[in-house]
Amino acid sequence: MDFTVETATDAVVDSFRQTKDRRLREVMESLTRHLHAFVRDIEPTMEEWEAAIGFLTAVGQTCDHTRQEFILLSDVLGVSMLVETMNGTMNGTETGTESTVLGPFHMTESPRRELGDSIDLLGTGRPCVVSGQVLAADGTPLPGAELDVWQCNEDGFYDVQQPDVQPPGNGRGLFRTDVEGRFWFRTVVPSHYPIPTDGPVGRLLDATGRHPYRPAHIHFIASADSHRPVTTHAFVDDSPYIDSDAVFAVKQGLITDFTESYDEQGAERFGVTVPFTHARFDIVLAPEPETT
Ligand SMILES: [Fe+2]
Repeated sequence: MDFTVETATDAVVDSFRQTKDRRLREVMESLTRHLHAFVRDIEPTMEEWEAAIGFLTAVGQTCDHTRQEFILLSDVLGVSMLVETMNGTMNGTETGTESTVLGPFHMTESPRRELGDSIDLLGTGRPCVVSGQVLAADGTPLPGAELDVWQCNEDGFYDVQQPDVQPPGNGRGLFRTDVEGRFWFRTVVPSHYPIPTDGPVGRLLDATGRHPYRPAHIHFIASADSHRPVTTHAFVDDSPYIDSDAVFAVKQGLITDFTESYDEQGAERFGVTVPFTHARFDIVLAPEPETT
């Protein structure tokens, strides 16, 4: 059968029929059907097709050990949030804290720190204490839960973006909750920030009149035995762009009060002086599904 516009899709779908892995076959067939439908819809010229290949090539070439342009592309197209949200629904994790995107800056290992330590190694930003509890869905505290935390500094940059300014591990910490499932650490209030705009994804945002900003947030991955881990953010409640995140990651339940505190006793307990900013962020983990 000749390869024509009419027969093209069936021919390519058919070419995957020997695929041993059933899931791979399903994925490749669906990808072929949707990709061909997209091409039929937009009817690209050869120059446009070459521009598309050039764009994807540039996305790949922009990636290195501290830069992940493909995650950024997935993020700005809303695919990262779609996958996160669908997986949350499929896994029945609605009983826990809502998940949100991993983002492109979880690329180095967070240093192990003790409860109460500061993840801010510079001391130039607005002092902030973050405290909370990791809990099971029924409210039982989860002692020994692991918390991986990372954030940008007060200027909106992660350590990996400013190797000449920030020491490695600045804004990052790996904590373990105490016997009551509690955690607390010191940091600085993170800033809202633009996702990197000096690559192909930035040029895409520019060409489509979209701003590149994310509202201020602190990233968390929380995990505990017999529970589903969650990848999430605590969003700073009064941050600019809280209603127009460039990567669509804000969920109302994750918006957290970052309040000015004059509590002398609290300040002493946390090793800071008044006034300090305090954010309370509890994390609820859904149970692992029963295995039969
Ligand atoms: Fe981030």
